Amino acid sequence: MSKAILEMKGINKSFGSVSVLENVDFSLKEGEVHALVGGNGAGKSTLMKIMTGVYSLDSGEVFINGGKKNIQNTKDAKENGIAMIFQELSLVPTMSIAENIFLGEELTRNGFRDVAAMKKKSKEILNELGIFINPELKVNQLSVGMSQMIEIAKAISKNAKILILDEPTASLSDSETVQLFRIIKQLKENGVSMVYISHRMNEILSISDSVTILRDGKKVITDKIENMDLDKIISHLVGGETSQRKFEWVEREYDADGDLILKVDNLKINEKIQNISFGLTKGEILGIAGLMGSGRTEILETLFGIRRKLGGTVELMGKVVNIKNSEDAIKSGFALIPEDRRRQGLVLGHSVKSNAILPYLRKLLVGRTHLISEKASNELAKNDIKKLNIKTDSIHKKINLLSGGNQQKVVIAKWLNMNPKVMMLDEPTAGVDIGAKTEIIEIIRNFADEGKGVILVSSELTELLSVCDRIITMFDGKITASILRKNINSEEELQNAVQRN
Ligand SMILES: Nc1ncnc2c1ncn2[C@@H]1O[C@H](COP(=O)(O)OP(=O)(O)OP(=O)(O)O)[C@@H](O)[C@H]1O
Ligand SMILES: [Mg+2]
Repeated sequence: MSKAILEMKGINKSFGSVSVLENVDFSLKEGEVHALVGGNGAGKSTLMKIMTGVYSLDSGEVFINGGKKNIQNTKDAKENGIAMIFQELSLVPTMSIAENIFLGEELTRNGFRDVAAMKKKSKEILNELGIFINPELKVNQLSVGMSQMIEIAKAISKNAKILILDEPTASLSDSETVQLFRIIKQLKENGVSMVYISHRMNEILSISDSVTILRDGKKVITDKIENMDLDKIISHLVGGETSQRKFEWVEREYDADGDLILKVDNLKINEKIQNISFGLTKGEILGIAGLMGSGRTEILETLFGIRRKLGGTVELMGKVVNIKNSEDAIKSGFALIPEDRRRQGLVLGHSVKSNAILPYLRKLLVGRTHLISEKASNELAKNDIKKLNIKTDSIHKKINLLSGGNQQKVVIAKWLNMNPKVMMLDEPTAGVDIGAKTEIIEIIRNFADEGKGVILVSSELTELLSVCDRIITMFDGKITASILRKNINSEEELQNAVQRN
């Protein structure tokens, strides 16, 4: 049996009066992939941030290769060969890929920054990972998925012996995930030990050697993955019953030949994404399946006025709408829960409450005044917290102090509060725990039951299959098929449809 490269013993951590970790033990063996699993707010990121010196521990001990260590900051962690890919992306958007990779430790020559060398080295690092991209591109020109890969490349370039991946696939497409898994296997062969945090059980079961489960800041169990299965993990996660935690498709009652709530005709977004035509019936949940880059997100962004359309028409409830920006879109009755929620969906320095009520402000005004009803807005925020089971000790807590998954739930709550006619969701359950996934799916169904329309983009085909009435597939900027859910017999069938052009 291989020895522990890292051990954490009796870790305690509180923020103010709130205890987040209680007496947690964690042991990482040399060369293993160790999954760290737990609900939103269970303390996973906090435990790993203690290991990387982002947070200090209140009490407990950390050992690396058997020697006791006092890791007080990220520099100490780096010197001990520990690197972390954070859940919240930490690249500087306005800087180039190469500048980001070498941020804080620029290569120099005769005392000057050696830009050419950094470019060359970045290219090498990226190529080794199978990523072929110009390192001079700025990070804000990249997709979320690509930024994530750059982040990983950056960590690896530091020769880390211990690598912590905090929900690395939450914003990756299927093919990027495959690429990441290949990288993880390669790193494992090179002797790197990894901690892998994810809410996706299929990933945990396929990639890890062992698993530790946290619930409400306490360690529940550590075991080898071969002693675990989906049901066992879920029951440890939720502490009991697992039956209602799985979602199955149930055929919904809605008039498939009824009035259209939305009609998109010949939409042209750019030279690649064009001839986009589809309708959405009142009460219908329409899924869009496709590989990354197939144009799914772009369609939602265009309908929401973030992108300008180059041609085509959009009709809402039988009327042509001309949407120039997201304000227009909101006024017309569109809502978009964006893929990149932290960058687009939240005001990070503000409280849970002010984020939740943001697009809803006009409706909370007292009479004809410009005052916002304190009572109404408090109630709204409290109701959101209950509805989506958002873990926070107060509605006044700053949103950036919430766990990643709970921040996402606030974004979702915020748009639900708008009561739009057409709700568009881009990867809505990425990063949320299994309980919240079920809740979000339920909310989507209830929303559609009111006769509204839903468009759902998701890379998780199981998710599309469990909630949609109809799924359109996209390939390379074109719609390739429109299939009723009841005519799809397996995930494989949908997978095949997605890959056909
Ligand atoms: N800097 C902070 N100040 C106050 N509270 C914090 C801070 N950082 C984290 N917390 C709280 O600690 C708890 C655990 O958060 P943590 O981010 O570790 O959860 P997590 O298991 O990573 O969840 P998720 O799956 O949602 O990412 C949460 O309730 C969170 O609000
Ligand atoms: Mg987290």
